[in-house]
Amino acid sequence: MLEQLTQMFTRKSKQAAAIEASSDIPVHVAVIMDGNGRWAKMRNLPRIAGHRAGMKAVKEIVKAADAIGVKYMTMYAFSTENWKRPQEEVDFLMKLPQEFLSTELDELIERNVCLKMLGSKDELPSHTLEALEIAEEKTKGNTGLQLNFALNYGSRKEMIHAMQELARKVQAGELQPEEIDEAAVARHLYTRDIPEPDLMIRTSGEIRLSNFMLWQLAYTELWFTDVLWPDFTKEHFYQAIAEYQGRGRRYGAV
Ligand code: FPP
Repeated sequence: MLEQLTQMFTRKSKQAAAIEASSDIPVHVAVIMDGNGRWAKMRNLPRIAGHRAGMKAVKEIVKAADAIGVKYMTMYAFSTENWKRPQEEVDFLMKLPQEFLSTELDELIERNVCLKMLGSKDELPSHTLEALEIAEEKTKGNTGLQLNFALNYGSRKEMIHAMQELARKVQAGELQPEEIDEAAVARHLYTRDIPEPDLMIRTSGEIRLSNFMLWQLAYTELWFTDVLWPDFTKEHFYQAIAEYQGRGRRYGAV
């Protein structure tokens, strides 16, 4: 048993060490955390039990990312389409950020993590928004990993918002239509201050983007796994990073 544990420990350390030894650590990793409902169903549990288990995976993966020097993590926690779910599930998902922060905020601060919310604040319940804003305020000076929760996030909504802002500036005479280029659009997205993701991970075997960062993922390496989010461990995460490191990114060139 002890030998097995030692082997496990050595294997994990080697995995993380090999990744760290490569200079090619993705700066920004985005994650579609999918499969919580199926995880719960397989265990005859209510869907919310899957989300709670998913929250534990968030904790592990954030630490794993921080440990190898990833600078930005964006986690898709609630989409603009998720409001269509049963009210009980929506209410639960809206309580999760608070629950997460009530146990994790001190440690996040200790680890120099900066927390941000990406998404539309308009429809969020005040208790959810308040918890996030307090965490944003308390961590705003931190210079370590930036952890973005994409909450009430929809890429099309984000792009419409950017287009409206740009149109308003044109109407006000502050901007010429010809000045609307890629950089101008990017400056009006929720992600205006951060680089585009280098790697996007989606769990649970679904191979689609589900309205997640459609503009930002244009040249991102995509990595899919059948593993359901609550079962996703740091070993899976490091496997994704190692495969990313083995890919050649050409950005349309040869
Ligand atoms: C998708 O799985 C998952 C979500 C819509 C919610 C994701 C939320 C978490 C992982 C917890 C977030 C934690 C914090 C700290 C905010 P699904 O429910 O669609 O799964 P299914 O496709 O199997 O039904």
